[in-house]
Amino acid sequence: MTRKVRVALGERSYDVIVGRGAVSELATLIPTDVRRVAIVTQAHLPFDVAPHLPAAVAVSRHVVGDGEAHKTLATIERLTEEFAAAGLTRNDLVVGVGGGMVTDIAGFAAASWHRGIRVVHVSTTLVGMIDAAIGGKTGVNLAAGKNLVGAFWQPTGVVCDTAMLDTLPAREQRCGSGEMAKYHFLTGDDLLSLDLDARIARCVQIKADIVGQDERESGRRAVLNYGHTFGHALEVESNFALAHGESVAIGMMFAAHVAHALGRIDAGRVDEHRQVIVEHYGLSVAVPPGVQRTRLVALMKHDKKAVAGLTFVLDGPNGIETVSGVDEAVLHTAFDALSVP
Ligand code: GLY
Repeated sequence: MTRKVRVALGERSYDVIVGRGAVSELATLIPTDVRRVAIVTQAHLPFDVAPHLPAAVAVSRHVVGDGEAHKTLATIERLTEEFAAAGLTRNDLVVGVGGGMVTDIAGFAAASWHRGIRVVHVSTTLVGMIDAAIGGKTGVNLAAGKNLVGAFWQPTGVVCDTAMLDTLPAREQRCGSGEMAKYHFLTGDDLLSLDLDARIARCVQIKADIVGQDERESGRRAVLNYGHTFGHALEVESNFALAHGESVAIGMMFAAHVAHALGRIDAGRVDEHRQVIVEHYGLSVAVPPGVQRTRLVALMKHDKKAVAGLTFVLDGPNGIETVSGVDEAVLHTAFDALSVP
């Protein structure tokens, strides 16, 4: 059984099809005027979506390398040269098949080609399904930082075929769990009562609702960065020994301790965080040895959200919201709770 979630953005609204076997519905997301489809994917992925495209379209395949080092403007240049060779016109369409890195690249290549052509994402990882493929954030890295060049470019449809998760490597699974744990705190929903497919569909719906309210992150969309302020700092300070989702899990626990130190939540709610993150999803909230709190504070001060002093996305009486001007002294309670030297 598949479920459809609508991302409501006026005339740019689109469907996300979620469930086992959802890729068999890919053709329903391809507009009838499309003549050529450029599939952007990675060599190691065992998913061939071409049989699920309309029979009449000409298909070309474009491979991007594995790892953040390939998420560059050079890759966009090469891909778009290949689009030219394949004769892709402004009426044609890109299909990104992969995790968040692939959909970021495929989305940005589509946003740039002929000043923007349509893109459909087939997400093959849990992080991609519940986060990266939804909401139109696309882009690549620079030496100066991650995702610094990009565009908001909404897809015309997204496929989340949960059967593709059967072969997901354990680390990718952990990263997906870190992002999924986040959704437990964004609404009062009892996500634990849902089976995996229903839970993924509910996470997509929560994200779709937030994107529908604040497409370009001028306010509410920032709650999707729950756990990310400390998480990003930890990723950098651990020299990327911790992956993004693993760092976000620790970041949410840190944020819960900060919120408690500020009197925004009680000890029971901090424990709820531990139960979901550690007990339910089996994620570690141990900060790796060698990480220095002074360095972490310096990194958090440079966070993209930090326009007015230290800024965190924090739980509280009104739910999760952005809080600016957090006193540095408060952070030490949270550092102590997580035994950060
Ligand atoms: N990954 C956060 C967002 O899409 O806004």
